[in-house]
Amino acid sequence: MTSPDPELSPRRAARAEAERLATAALSLPAATSSPAEGAPVEPVTRRQLRAAATGAIAMQPGAAPARADASAPVGGRSERSGPLSSVRAALAALPARRRRRLAITAGCAVAAVGGLLLIIGAVAGSGADATASATVDDAALTAAAAGPPAVPDAGLPVPEVSAVAATATPCDDPAFTAALAAGDDTAAIAAAGGGSAFRAAVASGIAPCVSLSDPDREWVVVNKQRPLDPIDYRAGDLIMPQNVRALEDSALRAAAANALTAMVKAASDAGAGEIGYLSAFRSYSTQQSTYAGRVAVGGVAEADRESARAGYSEHQSGLAVDIVPCTGSCGTLDDVAASPQGAWVREHAWEFGFITRYAEGRESVSGYEPEAWHQRYIGPELARAYHEGGYTTLEEFFGLPAAPTY
Ligand code: DAL
Ligand code: ZN
Repeated sequence: MTSPDPELSPRRAARAEAERLATAALSLPAATSSPAEGAPVEPVTRRQLRAAATGAIAMQPGAAPARADASAPVGGRSERSGPLSSVRAALAALPARRRRRLAITAGCAVAAVGGLLLIIGAVAGSGADATASATVDDAALTAAAAGPPAVPDAGLPVPEVSAVAATATPCDDPAFTAALAAGDDTAAIAAAGGGSAFRAAVASGIAPCVSLSDPDREWVVVNKQRPLDPIDYRAGDLIMPQNVRALEDSALRAAAANALTAMVKAASDAGAGEIGYLSAFRSYSTQQSTYAGRVAVGGVAEADRESARAGYSEHQSGLAVDIVPCTGSCGTLDDVAASPQGAWVREHAWEFGFITRYAEGRESVSGYEPEAWHQRYIGPELARAYHEGGYTTLEEFFGLPAAPTY
């Protein structure tokens, strides 16, 4: 049996134990802070840590035990009893230089032990009143090592997911891609689940097979940031609308022309009066002349609010038409807004696939002053989605950036 080291006084023993616990808690080598120079220091066991946490620090053989008052509250302010008072006493006995060095190490250890105490207290159901008699199981220590417990989510709001699922892209649907390949816009929109579903898919970015720049599509978006591609694009299925008064020899793409015929008839049948039109398809060169004429009258800044530069006009797509009210003779573009025909068109044009492309107060997005006369064909399904969604610009409808300038 080894006799007690005479150099290991109670004060030195307490100091050594404090250093050893601090070092062990940080998993650092303990050799340099051994109480008896050169003597090996055993690592602190889980049992000892438990004991320390509950107020019963076991001392090395031969050392005077630090007082472990089992009845003292853990973390209490008593200077006479409990493990903390022992540590304080040990620290006070150290030379200042070693106290500073140890303070850094012990600070971390105290934090770790403090964390253990909080968790142990919670597990024991007695909070800060946990005493040396409290039992601590390994699960508590394991939990302490694992960090803070997961926050239960029972009280957190659960967001409602209403967006289209990422995997539900129409581009994976053979019926949709076949319709696209065939150039059948109506069938493609139907395969996508209708105008709203198509719009949502395109605007959310999950339908990369749909190009809003394809000039052959009814959903093409042309604005000051999105010129026709190619810049001198010319539609291949231009026809003159039947039974509609045309003030210019100006055609439309077939679907738009037929829709205009139907709309004009419906307006007449409803008693709204006759609707004629001035300008529909305009070629690149025609648009050059149109824009130049506006510049000549009002300058570039004014022209850019009213007329598109060549290659940037919806008229070049063959999907736009400027209507006029006719009562015997036909009025001007500026007469549309206040006319019965204009009022009827505001209410019903969407039913035939048209939208008022340049709406009141939307110049900052569309790039143009309001034009009650400029009707853009996007097809009945998309026009329904536009109308029912309360959209006032095609840019917002498809989630595109505003295009106030070139
Ligand atoms: N007036 C419209 C903006 C156009 O020129 O296309
Ligand atoms: Zn127009």
